[in-house]
Amino acid sequence: MTDLERHEYDVIVIGAGGAGLRAAIEAREQGLRTAVICKSLFGKAHTVMAEGGIAASMGNANEKDSWQTHFRDTMRGGKFLNNPRMAELHAKEAPMRVWELETYGALFDRTPDGRISQRNFGGHEYPRLAHVGDRTGLELIRTLQQKIVSLQQEDHRETGDYESRLKVFAELTITDILKADGAVAGAFGYWRESGRFVLFSAPAVILATGGIGKSFKVTSNSWEYTGDGHALALRAGASLVNMEFIQFHPTGMVWPPSVKGILVTESVRGDGGVLRNSDGNRFMFDYVPDVFRGQYADTEDEADRWYEDPENNKRPPELLPRDEVARAINNEVKEGRGSPHGGVFLDVSTRLPAEEIRRRLPSMHHQFKELADVDITAEPMEVGPTCHYVMGGVEVDADTAATSVPGLYAAGEVAGGMHGSNRLGGNSLSDLLVFGRRAGVGAAEYLAALGDSRPAVSEVDVDRAAETALAPFRDAAENPYTLHQELQQKMNDLVGIIRREGEVREALVMLDGLDERAKSVGVEGHRQFNPGWHLALDLRNMLAVCRCVALAALERTESRGGHTREDFPAMDPQWRAVNLICTLDDSDRVQLTRQPVPQIRQDLLELFERTELSKYLTEPELARLDAGVADSAQGSDQS
Ligand code: FUM
Repeated sequence: MTDLERHEYDVIVIGAGGAGLRAAIEAREQGLRTAVICKSLFGKAHTVMAEGGIAASMGNANEKDSWQTHFRDTMRGGKFLNNPRMAELHAKEAPMRVWELETYGALFDRTPDGRISQRNFGGHEYPRLAHVGDRTGLELIRTLQQKIVSLQQEDHRETGDYESRLKVFAELTITDILKADGAVAGAFGYWRESGRFVLFSAPAVILATGGIGKSFKVTSNSWEYTGDGHALALRAGASLVNMEFIQFHPTGMVWPPSVKGILVTESVRGDGGVLRNSDGNRFMFDYVPDVFRGQYADTEDEADRWYEDPENNKRPPELLPRDEVARAINNEVKEGRGSPHGGVFLDVSTRLPAEEIRRRLPSMHHQFKELADVDITAEPMEVGPTCHYVMGGVEVDADTAATSVPGLYAAGEVAGGMHGSNRLGGNSLSDLLVFGRRAGVGAAEYLAALGDSRPAVSEVDVDRAAETALAPFRDAAENPYTLHQELQQKMNDLVGIIRREGEVREALVMLDGLDERAKSVGVEGHRQFNPGWHLALDLRNMLAVCRCVALAALERTESRGGHTREDFPAMDPQWRAVNLICTLDDSDRVQLTRQPVPQIRQDLLELFERTELSKYLTEPELARLDAGVADSAQGSDQS
């Protein structure tokens, strides 16, 4: 191909949110020539939507906190379907990653005695979220960007070239991972502005592309989140795990329609906000599930006492994990007790003085004033669930972030396993730093073992990738915007918060139809900045990923975390033993198989009370625990 731009690197990091930037920093520090590819403008990432904080058991607000408590909370939040080794590494390494961020220049809010301040969030036993007001994700991205610039300056001093070892390619989309003899050889993509094709030759690719929210109508995600990394991994031969688990954050804006879905941070509840229905009832007391009974307050008085003395009282039910709160809000609205615009009321004005609200929640104050003309220091907000995060993702090795494809790594939201069936708020920022770093190390180790024998990209594969990318210019029978809108609406309606067999089957038929129509999706015009073309290419990713979501949602006949089946409302211990795996067959059709979940090591199980475990585990697992059998589960305590 003549007008192809070519680059050679050791590692390509696809995605420039927190996981991508942390992976790139690590790869560069390990001495690798590293490219960071950013679909959007550099610095614009869904990471900024993790507003309320980063979870790490530093123990600044309560010295009883520890990695063991954080691990326990994470496993409970995920309803024990988490990859236990990932949850362990995450809980152990998160504090170090936060302190390290300070050395990069992050400015966290402080306690009166000068330590990093930590706030409450749903499902976390202690105040655990290090924060910068309600703009923590933004500070994290800003800091990582600054670190990248400082590394580039270091390179400049040595080589005279800022980009000799670490270069950011902004507004560039990757459409295919290229392989040679089964291993990664590079990646193919296009500049969004010019449409010009670009080939990156590299033996290692780290996927850090974030989530899939743009497949749903109401979402906190912006336009970039079309499941690109999930689909790239599938097409490269890797597998996705448990794609049925989608997090609907309980609180998104519901009004005005143009901003429906924009996030309302959980910090509002963490800092004392309460939820009420149209009758004025604080309804969350009616929704404390059996597995959490005893840990959460049963009455308003009891909950109020917790704000005064958290050590000796039960937590308010607004601080239940997100899946519980989202389902409760959904039910209140369905039963006719919703707010005027189809949400419920979230009020922090009766709990905190106006000045404190403006100090602790400046973005929320600004957002509601500007977008909805609501002053949250004096009136309640109207909020409802919004698609925020996918717990499922690319199957990876916990320690190295390696996928089953040699040279392919995944970290952050695109990777699956860490959060089980439901993620606790604040655990994503720590996840992406812990596993972003580990992916960088993993890629460096892979390259060291590879030596000089680097897989070479085949020109035939490059031509094929270009031909696929150009397909939408050949036919204009179907409009990508129409297909996208239909997909979003149907996924919201048929595979949303509450699922039923008939509706999920209907969704699969709908996906068959859209797949067929997508074959003749087409656009007018040229390759120069052509958003219709970009969407047409993103659409194939969304369709593949949505099929994984729907197939897994049909298969899992129980309710757990971010997957609620109205026809199977209970959690079933037999299903805790099963991961649902999606791969592509030779005809690029999604195949779903069942796989046993990794065993939880004995020493990790012993962190829980036997009575609690009996709510989650199968009989054989409990028998093993009781017998104290040393098992062959992943990982060791030595890391
Ligand atoms: O509500 C929030 O601030 C979001 C945090 C997260 O998703 O981790």
